[in-house]
Amino acid sequence: MRQFTRATLAIVLLTGAAVGMAGFATRANAEDPPAPAEEETFTIGMKNLLPPEIFDRGLVVTVGAPLDEAIEQPIAFTHERHVGTLGMDCNYCHSNARKGIHAGVPATSVCMGCHSLVDTTERPELVKLKDYWEKGEVIPWKKVHDVPDYVYFSHKRHVVAGLDCQECHGEVQDMTVNERVAPLSMGWCLDCHAQHESIDQNYGTKAELRRAELKDCWTCHK
Ligand code: HEC
Ligand code: HEC
Ligand code: HEC
Ligand code: HEC
Ligand code: HEC
Repeated sequence: MRQFTRATLAIVLLTGAAVGMAGFATRANAEDPPAPAEEETFTIGMKNLLPPEIFDRGLVVTVGAPLDEAIEQPIAFTHERHVGTLGMDCNYCHSNARKGIHAGVPATSVCMGCHSLVDTTERPELVKLKDYWEKGEVIPWKKVHDVPDYVYFSHKRHVVAGLDCQECHGEVQDMTVNERVAPLSMGWCLDCHAQHESIDQNYGTKAELRRAELKDCWTCHK
């Protein structure tokens, strides 16, 4: 399945390049005045190229846990308790979100900074945590979000631009069990790239150009 998908991707991308070149050839011969410079570089709209089903993906491609469904984790960790009640910042445990591609899940040592002091009596979940720590085993957290390997996604780009985690992950601070709330489909990425307000704020007169870049295939399929 994956191979089929990769091959399809390559074909679609190549066809895209060919259609693009054909587009330029026609443009050069036409008598109409040329379109503004920004638009000329990005002649192919996604929706002209791909069958509409592609935009409702998520059925064929695995993007993590089922939508809006709680999955069982090895320890019943809750964001609601740590962020909602204790008031911890996302950055305390996911500091990599502003620095790199992956937000990452915290190492057990981060948990133990506090949990070596929290009483474990009659708290089986905290006993499990202590066991992982004492045995030196990595906690096998299950992934809730997972885009396919042929998609390039970087947290840093989005976080530095000023987006909130909640725009893509929902109200995590209220969740006792983490759920995926966004489809993570190509259409989902593109819809936001076409209209997010931060692009106008951060790019001013260059916003149109930036939006065009953000829908280019190579932005997300390198
Ligand atoms: C005390 C540490 C801690 C804090 C603070 C914290 N998280 Fe987490 N986060 C975790 C752990 C542990 C997991 C893995 C278990 C799970 O999915 O519940 C996780 C998982 C996640 C996931 C799902 C990862 C996946 O598998 O796709 C998201 C999204 C997330 N956190 C977002 C946030 C956001 C947003 C905040 C701030 C509102 C936050 N977290 C604060 C520890 C933390
Ligand atoms: C800043 C300190 C701090 C950090 C860091 C922290 N916790 Fe906690 N955690 C607490 C406190 C305080 C409680 C609430 C204990 C209580 O109810 O008395 C708690 C509660 C819990 C509970 C619920 C216990 C129960 O059964 O009531 C679990 C499970 C848990 N933490 C797991 C984790 C894991 C896993 C990590 C690391 C990803 C982590 N915690 C990081 C402070 C922390
Ligand atoms: C623009 C949307 C978007 C924003 C904003 C965003 N995320 Fe994510 N997040 C994703 C996607 C997409 C994935 C899946 C990435 C993958 O599979 O490589 C993901 C995965 C994760 C994961 C799983 C581990 C990983 O890195 O793959 C965690 C944890 C997480 N995000 C936390 C956060 C936190 C914390 C913030 C805010 C500081 C944040 N995210 C902001 C879209 C977003
Ligand atoms: C909620 C809105 C939103 C969603 C959803 C979103 N993005 Fe973005 N993305 C942005 C914004 C805004 C920027 C521009 C950041 C900047 O340049 O200031 C951006 C930038 C990027 C960049 C950087 C491009 C470059 O050339 O620097 C990549 C790559 C990217 N997004 C991939 C993705 C992928 C893949 C998805 C879906 C899995 C996705 N994004 C979902 C808002 C979003
Ligand atoms: C903003 C990010 C983004 C851009 C730009 C983008 N894609 Fe995608 N694409 C994705 C994501 C995320 C997936 C995986 C989820 C899905 O299939 O919807 C994907 C999946 C695909 C697939 C596999 C579909 C399947 O499941 O069989 C193809 C083919 C594809 N893209 C082609 C393209 C082409 C061609 C372009 C340019 C015209 C393009 N993409 C531009 C994010 C993007």
